[in-house]
Amino acid sequence: MTIKVLVSGSGKMGREVLHAVSAEDDMEPVGVVDLLSTEEYISLPGEVLVPFERNPSALITRTRPDVIVDFTSAEWTPKLAEAALEDNVRLVSGTSGLSESFISHLGEQYAKRDLGAVVASNFAIGAILMQQMSRMAARFYDSAEVIEQHHDGKADAPSGTSLATARAIVDAHGNPMSLAETKRETVRGTRGGAVDGVPIHSVRLPGLVAHQEVIFGGPGETLRIRHDTSDRASFMPGVLLAVREVMNLKSLVVGLEGLFGFDAGGARK
Ligand SMILES: NC(=O)c1ccc[n+]([C@@H]2O[C@H](COP(=O)([O-])OP(=O)(O)OC[C@H]3O[C@@H](n4cnc5c(N)ncnc54)[C@H](O)[C@@H]3O)[C@@H](O)[C@H]2O)c1
Repeated sequence: MTIKVLVSGSGKMGREVLHAVSAEDDMEPVGVVDLLSTEEYISLPGEVLVPFERNPSALITRTRPDVIVDFTSAEWTPKLAEAALEDNVRLVSGTSGLSESFISHLGEQYAKRDLGAVVASNFAIGAILMQQMSRMAARFYDSAEVIEQHHDGKADAPSGTSLATARAIVDAHGNPMSLAETKRETVRGTRGGAVDGVPIHSVRLPGLVAHQEVIFGGPGETLRIRHDTSDRASFMPGVLLAVREVMNLKSLVVGLEGLFGFDAGGARK
């Protein structure tokens, strides 16, 4: 069976997804929707033209996709999702900054329809493994800090991945981590922003893509778990996995780890 994929967003990620999907034998890109579209078509290698439109409902009616893959903005994704739900189309979204209330609304609506959807703040498989390894380590250490580094164009801080990592650490630890007290902070904020005792430090610089290091500290030792994304191609295996898996889901899965079959301790079920 060929999975018909409609791509939402024609920015850096949208275009990467379009090319990744078009290279797969079991997938077909059927269109691209973007509020800012100015052309009628986007061309792909092999002189293939893909319809390019501003209106999601019109493009869904025209192309009848099985799955919409969305990498846009938190203002746009809810509007797109309404159009997807109206026509019972599965959704895979990697858009950053989606609100908890919107995600829970999506969960209710997709469950009601027995239809699959995936929302994930990070599609890089290594980043998910980093989170799972942090979860494992959190059972053995009382203190941890996260340093996340991104390009200077990133809109939000801290990153969704660093927040999810900090929450996973606290969850696996069973209670808040212990945070060393700083008696005198001569520059405000230098200790980062803490999530239940796990400080997160956000670096924003040109030249960076997406990087994160988790440092656990214990008596006489530290453990460092690090992941580096050097190219957007790193997200594509996770996106393609989600497109295949969402076809068999009957509700919303939040986080790519939900497709990996890990238990809460990080081991594979
Ligand atoms: N989950 C992940 O693994 C992952 C990885 C990389 C990027 N992202 C996220 O994906 C999204 C897109 O990233 P990008 O690098 O392609 O960005 P980009 O700036 O290159 O593209 C943004 C896209 O969103 C559209 N858009 C922006 N604001 C809009 C609005 N208000 N209404 C309608 N459309 C709007 C633009 O037209 C464009 O198509 C961001 O939220 C980014 O943080 C997620």
